[in-house]
Amino acid sequence: MSVRDIHPSRQLKGEILVPGDKSISHRAVMFGSLAKGDTRISHFLSGADCLSTISCFRKMGVPIEMEKGQVLVHGNGLHGLRAPEEVLDTGNSGTTTRLIAGILAGQSFPSVLSGDDSLNSRPMGRIMTPLNQMGAHITSIRENGCAPLRIEPGRLHGIHYTSPVASAQVKSAVLLAGLYAEGETSVTEPALSRNHTELMLQGFGASLTSTVHPDGTATASVLPCSELFARDIRVPGDISSAAYFIAAGLLTPGSEILVRNVGLNPTRAGFLTVCQNMGAKLSLQNKTTQGGEEMADILVSSGPLHGTVIEGSLIPSLIDEIPILAVMAAFADGTTVIRDAAELKVKETNRIDTVTENLSAMGADVTPTEDGMIIRGGKALHGAQIHSHLDHRIAMAFTVAALAADGPSSILDSQCVDVSYPAFFQELDALCGR
Ligand code: S3P
Repeated sequence: MSVRDIHPSRQLKGEILVPGDKSISHRAVMFGSLAKGDTRISHFLSGADCLSTISCFRKMGVPIEMEKGQVLVHGNGLHGLRAPEEVLDTGNSGTTTRLIAGILAGQSFPSVLSGDDSLNSRPMGRIMTPLNQMGAHITSIRENGCAPLRIEPGRLHGIHYTSPVASAQVKSAVLLAGLYAEGETSVTEPALSRNHTELMLQGFGASLTSTVHPDGTATASVLPCSELFARDIRVPGDISSAAYFIAAGLLTPGSEILVRNVGLNPTRAGFLTVCQNMGAKLSLQNKTTQGGEEMADILVSSGPLHGTVIEGSLIPSLIDEIPILAVMAAFADGTTVIRDAAELKVKETNRIDTVTENLSAMGADVTPTEDGMIIRGGKALHGAQIHSHLDHRIAMAFTVAALAADGPSSILDSQCVDVSYPAFFQELDALCGR
């Protein structure tokens, strides 16, 4: 087991370019594989999750080259995937599993998808239901609604699916299957989830529309298409990775850091809204847009934070940042309430439990609820042994907590950061001047 000792840090200074966005990196490989021609992806995230996606498409006959953060996908065209000779191993990655399931549903060959223990305990009924309604034949091999999944060929027809959850993975799986279906396919979700699939598929030539309705629900629709066309993608920095440095900069007195090229797609930027609601000092510089994706540099200066309420349609735009927001809340004055976030229970770990366990171990006052948690901030946190439970976001969020706490901490199974941020500890050490 890998264990990382973390000592409190006085201040963070300097600049950082966080790795490429995980959601966008996955999609660039997937859509590039299905497109005709070469897709060159720069600032690609070479974390374990995105490497799982590359490995699955290589097993389906797509030549993919990788060199120093650049990936070159020689697309086989929409109907050019080949039957894999073995199980497609999706590792720890929900995005790989659910999005590829949507693509596989439209193929003329059978396949099996399986991942690690965490992945194979996450719910897959949420994609099996709509995909099977479209005419796919997807079964859970252990009959427990989870992977391993067996996918048999089927003829797909478009459906209008109303998803009970705001999930970009569900929406994307259905839209991708829709590329292979007869007629229009649409997905309505209770609130708009990240829209990278919609933006990027349009860029690859798919016919797609999306609307946010006055009541806050959102619908994306796609028409079947005969071909997608390759294009180059520059992946923005991942706001989910930037969040750890922004939090560390806010929490450690005397800090001033510049986080460069951070993706600020509004469906992902809820973390910044909450930081501002908590009184954080942040300023955005050098704003640009590429491929429909907004990005900017973020200047962070330390300062006091106060409690807030995090709820409603904001939740999908910051769902992966809740562990680090909970840490910030523990150091803030006053109470923070997080609600409407039951999805936390079905992430890489049950993050209501894993956040509560580790905040409590550090002496914070936290009460878990059915759909979130209540954190009464302002108590001094002390160092502790942190159980990451192999969840990369728990390991990184509590590394930041350990920097701002009194006394040393240790992060168990710290290597799990490789899933989304292999150089996390080295880059944090550099900003801490270590
Ligand atoms: C992702 C969507 C979100 C997010 C995950 C990445 C994606 O999951 O938590 O880390 O790339 O589509 P859900 O769609 O299950 O909310």
